[in-house]
Amino acid sequence: MVVILYTTKYKTGGAEMEMAANHMVRQKKDSIAIRIESKAEFLDAIASIQEPIDELHFIGHSGLYGPMFGTTKFPDQMSRSDWRTLQIPFAPNGSAYFHCCRGARWFAPYFAQRYRVPTFGHMSYTTFSHSPDFYCKLLPDRDDVFVVSVPGYKSRGLVGYLRKRIGRAPTVPLSRFEPGPDEDASYDGVAELYDQVFEDFRVRRDEWEWLSKNMIRDGSVLDIGCGNGALLLALATLIKQGIGIDVSHRMIQVASHRGRGEANLNFRLYDGLSVPGEDETFDVVISMLSWRYLDWDPIVREITRLLKPGGQLLIVDMVVAPFKPKLIPRILADKARHFFSGIGAPSFRKALKRLVQDPAWATMLQHNPMRAEHEMRNYLPSRFPGIEIQTLNRTPRSEMLACRWAKPDSLNDRT
Ligand SMILES: C[S@@+](CC[C@H](N)C(=O)[O-])C[C@H]1O[C@@H](n2cnc3c(N)ncnc32)[C@H](O)[C@@H]1O
Repeated sequence: MVVILYTTKYKTGGAEMEMAANHMVRQKKDSIAIRIESKAEFLDAIASIQEPIDELHFIGHSGLYGPMFGTTKFPDQMSRSDWRTLQIPFAPNGSAYFHCCRGARWFAPYFAQRYRVPTFGHMSYTTFSHSPDFYCKLLPDRDDVFVVSVPGYKSRGLVGYLRKRIGRAPTVPLSRFEPGPDEDASYDGVAELYDQVFEDFRVRRDEWEWLSKNMIRDGSVLDIGCGNGALLLALATLIKQGIGIDVSHRMIQVASHRGRGEANLNFRLYDGLSVPGEDETFDVVISMLSWRYLDWDPIVREITRLLKPGGQLLIVDMVVAPFKPKLIPRILADKARHFFSGIGAPSFRKALKRLVQDPAWATMLQHNPMRAEHEMRNYLPSRFPGIEIQTLNRTPRSEMLACRWAKPDSLNDRT
């Protein structure tokens, strides 16, 4: 059977998505379309399917872990652990299709690998058309709607825009991904090289300055995704106790070795879901360059449980962000600052070069990409009301975000 799932509320284009789903039902034999507006409804829809699925289609918006549900004010999405546990009854020749913006950048290859089925997605942004082969503006009296991808930024880059206006800009077909051999997706293979680059956390000046300015002193600190432990080592004399957790056992070995002389530090392997510890035990929870990898809803529950009232959440992470000409002065200033601080740290630069040129680094990055800016900027305020988000530095296509939140004294006392 052919299962077509679609959403209408997250971002724009909801009515067109419903029309595209209904049109697909008319075109495909033995098919059903199910409207889903939340992760729970998505899971229920999959659980309700009793027959083997020949084709699974999703029409909607996509984040790093695929379908986005809910609204931009309160986004809802699958996480890596959800996909790990969810069984989808594919037929032996089954396949999956994600008709969403940029679903092929990371999610379609991930899905192909996870479910061992050919998976299709768009590399670029999507729009709607009455033809699957070229773009044409939707007419009010027609209900034959297709989700299509047309070249150009947001399908509107200058060339794309002109071709669309002149008429008949050809569409780009969905890209196909096959399941590949299993590879080590963790940081285990790069732990030693990573440690050589960041043996002293203070080399990351923007992050260290921001933390030094904003972090509560003398408290107990949980560092999620602690890596080689360099941050807690740099903080050791400023805090009462520090616990670092990480899913990479090689990283934990490196961190434990480095921290062996510090009685107030402890590093533990983490299962990625539940953090061992009593409720309200930490003054500060930190996530440095690891937020992108975490299972967001489960870790939010854990952070809220573990933080003392008034305790702090500090997140720094790099996100993919679109280029904006008005940011050129900021980009140039940040580049110059990094260039001059790099001159004084030649061993750091050499170690960084060794890390990024190592094939294990490329493999790891392929399995663990950065999140998009909008995912972080929509998600964090929805779960941590009042969170402050600022830009630490910018490159043409990425942005380092620093986020600070204080847990209210009572759950009703939310700013
Ligand atoms: C870029 S490193 C950052 C390490 C350290 N926080 C730092 O700033 O140098 C990302 C770390 O996140 C860890 N990680 C990946 N997935 C994780 C997860 N689900 N839970 C906890 N840590 C995770 C990796 O093993 C790695 O050590």
